[in-house]
Amino acid sequence: MNWSHFFTSSVGKKLTMALSGLFLVAFLLVHAGLNACIWANDEGVMFNKAAHFMGANAVPRILEIGLFVFFLIHIIQGLVLEVQNRSKRGMGYAVKIGNRGSKWYSRAMGILGSIILIFLVVHLIDFFIPSRFGGLTEVMIDGKPYHNLYAEMKYKFAEYEYRYIIVTIYILGVIALFWHLVHGIQSAFRTFGVTNHKYIAMLTGIGWAFAIIVCGAFIMMPISFIAGWLS
Ligand code: HEM
Repeated sequence: MNWSHFFTSSVGKKLTMALSGLFLVAFLLVHAGLNACIWANDEGVMFNKAAHFMGANAVPRILEIGLFVFFLIHIIQGLVLEVQNRSKRGMGYAVKIGNRGSKWYSRAMGILGSIILIFLVVHLIDFFIPSRFGGLTEVMIDGKPYHNLYAEMKYKFAEYEYRYIIVTIYILGVIALFWHLVHGIQSAFRTFGVTNHKYIAMLTGIGWAFAIIVCGAFIMMPISFIAGWLS
């Protein structure tokens, strides 16, 4: 079997979804941890320094290229799987079996993924593009100039005239991400061949805990700004 056969076989598609998905899970943990520096409530000093480290060093920049490649693989394979599943379901059951067959969020992975994709496009336009291609103000910290990403967040979530729309998009995006993770994390391990009931139960619990902690942190970021909890 060569690479193109691997990527188009059903096992290959499931495996690339699982591997790229787990890489993205690791990214989300780092991203949420780094962003949590906003709660130091020091007008963004710690957060701007941490974001600067990620943007200015070679290793995070190389990982960033990997990140976009994995995002692309995950999105393309996800769309292909969704189209195939829908055409199979079209020939499917006369009676809808609902939650008895699988959970609603397991069946809605394609829709949840699409909502996350829309959120991601808005999100990259909001922060990533100005950060990498210009458009941010600068702030002096310990006598050195830093991109003021914190001020950009504060502007978008707390001052911008369309802030309620932006914050709503973020909340909906993160809710979609939550359910996507609850299914995706345990599903990835099933793809790797974990079938033992005890391990599946444990991995499902880890998936829920991860989704609650990481998405809980993400959702509180725009809310903290719009509620005026951060200076
Ligand atoms: C909801 C709260 C979130 C906030 C406040 C936030 C904030 C930010 C900021 C400020 C950046 C620019 C970082 C820089 O250029 O150094 C960024 C980049 C990025 N964010 Fe988020 N983010 C959030 C959630 C998410 C979620 C849920 C995802 C994925 C589904 C995500 C994916 C990304 C990606 C792919 C980048 C660009 C990659 C990078 O900078 O390395 N973010 N985010």
